[in-house]
Amino acid sequence: MASDGPSAGRAASSQGIMPPTETPAMAPPSALPSSTFASSTVPSRPPASSAPPFPSAPPVSLLAAHQHQHRANSRKPDATAIFRDYPPVDTAAIAAFHRQLPHYAATPLRCLPSIAAEVGVGQVFLKDESDRFGMPSFKILGASWAVYNALAKAMGLDTINPDGSMLSLETLAAAVRTYNDRCLHESGQRPLQIISTTEGNWGRALARMARYAGGVACRLYVPSFMPQSTQEILTREGADVRVVPGGNYDDCVAVVRAEADRDSSVLLLLDVGFEGYEEVAQWVVDGYSTMLVEADEQVREATDGRAATHVVVPVGAGSIAQAVTAHYRKQAEEVIKGEKDDEEDMDDKDEKYSKSGESVDGSNKKCPTSHAEAIWDGREKLPNKLRRRTAVLAVEADTAACLRASLAVGRRVTVATADTIMCGLNCGTLSQTAWPILQAGVDYCVAVSDRQAHVAVQQLWNADERAIVDDGDVDTKPVEGGRPGSKNGSNRVKKPRVSEAAGAGGVAAGPCGAATLAGLRKMCSEARDLLKLDGDSVVVLFCTEGAREYAVPFV
Ligand SMILES: Cc1ncc(COP(=O)(O)O)c(C=O)c1O
Repeated sequence: MASDGPSAGRAASSQGIMPPTETPAMAPPSALPSSTFASSTVPSRPPASSAPPFPSAPPVSLLAAHQHQHRANSRKPDATAIFRDYPPVDTAAIAAFHRQLPHYAATPLRCLPSIAAEVGVGQVFLKDESDRFGMPSFKILGASWAVYNALAKAMGLDTINPDGSMLSLETLAAAVRTYNDRCLHESGQRPLQIISTTEGNWGRALARMARYAGGVACRLYVPSFMPQSTQEILTREGADVRVVPGGNYDDCVAVVRAEADRDSSVLLLLDVGFEGYEEVAQWVVDGYSTMLVEADEQVREATDGRAATHVVVPVGAGSIAQAVTAHYRKQAEEVIKGEKDDEEDMDDKDEKYSKSGESVDGSNKKCPTSHAEAIWDGREKLPNKLRRRTAVLAVEADTAACLRASLAVGRRVTVATADTIMCGLNCGTLSQTAWPILQAGVDYCVAVSDRQAHVAVQQLWNADERAIVDDGDVDTKPVEGGRPGSKNGSNRVKKPRVSEAAGAGGVAAGPCGAATLAGLRKMCSEARDLLKLDGDSVVVLFCTEGAREYAVPFV
């Protein structure tokens, strides 16, 4: 079924009780029902079953169609034009904004040598989003930027002050407070409120931001299958939680859209785009850029200046994948443009820099360092086109593989979904804003099963790991409930700097985040040569969530 209308977004299963799409951090084992995440159901290592870790691949007809479609240029969009025209993201302004938020710190990039050796690539890094501003996923990066821009717009404030500085969150919050007080006590208008729908983390991030931005009321309509515990977390964050009886995510979207149409005092803030709702969706996507800028810097730091050759991103409605795809493909366009400029320079016999970066014209200028240059460096060592830019690899839940289905037919389609432990990936329809970007820029896409994601959670937990952290401190990461399956229930994991000893503990990832590792393994087995995944590869997994409870799939 084609879907360009209101149903765009997450399509949740209506069968039985489903876990939240985005759930909070893992609760202490003592607080969990034994049926969900007890050490007895999450062994510290994958069970020594006779079956290989991954069963034989599910039918790959969609993949074949996808590859076929990619060969059939007639339907393939013009990636060069799309990424050349993609609006530049002001990553510096967004990062500056994020630095204003309480608990700001770059999330660590974790180096996984044992995983790299096992899958047969040069290096594997994992960008660990399990503690972003004290929240268990990356979502607040997009939520915060969207709330800031939407409220500034509603208040009639420019986000750039006349002196060129940035409107501070504090100033915005004061303006919002004054406006809402006036509504309550003078004008008789309804105060400004934020409304949205969520399956967990998105709503939690919104509610947190609504508090920071002047104590704006935040009303969240949630699917009826959302567990009580998740609703309570949203309520504790300050949200007014309303359950839509019998409703799944799409039904909730319809409810909030209708309410926003009726009531001009509400600001609709969703993390998916549809016809007529592109601006907010783009702010959300742009907000994710901070994670990418951090990752690029951390990878360079860890590799003596190389850039990632491959990045792996999970796909739900596609917003985070849009951010990742646009970021790396736009970088590549800049490199290509730079190459053309360089060629012209060479033609003019006006070479300013030697290969070592020293000036050759006596000016003593060093060649500037940039992302583009890092890719250029990688390219020089590598033989062909794919290696001249970062390959974007996407991973979906096999119960909700709407990107693969859409790639196969060359248009955005809705797929039926079913329950999955990769709750955040349980989306039947891509964001309309994301689709053209993903269609043009994703290099390869696989779908993984719950079992594969679960095995990857365990592999990450047991992996040798070293963290690259920016603050110079040993990164001690709180893990609610401690290490899955650990006997002592210790709730802190030591994460040493990259220079310190390896093997101090694994990564506490949730299934959506670990899906990237499951996806990488699958790509290595089915398309290693095509994707040039080998000893020279520098792979980054975007691990979008920390450990959390889930019903362990049958293994
Ligand atoms: C932890 C996690 N990872 C990945 C995603 C997928 O993000 P998107 O919907 O932007 O594709 C989500 C979405 O909720 C999520 O919660």
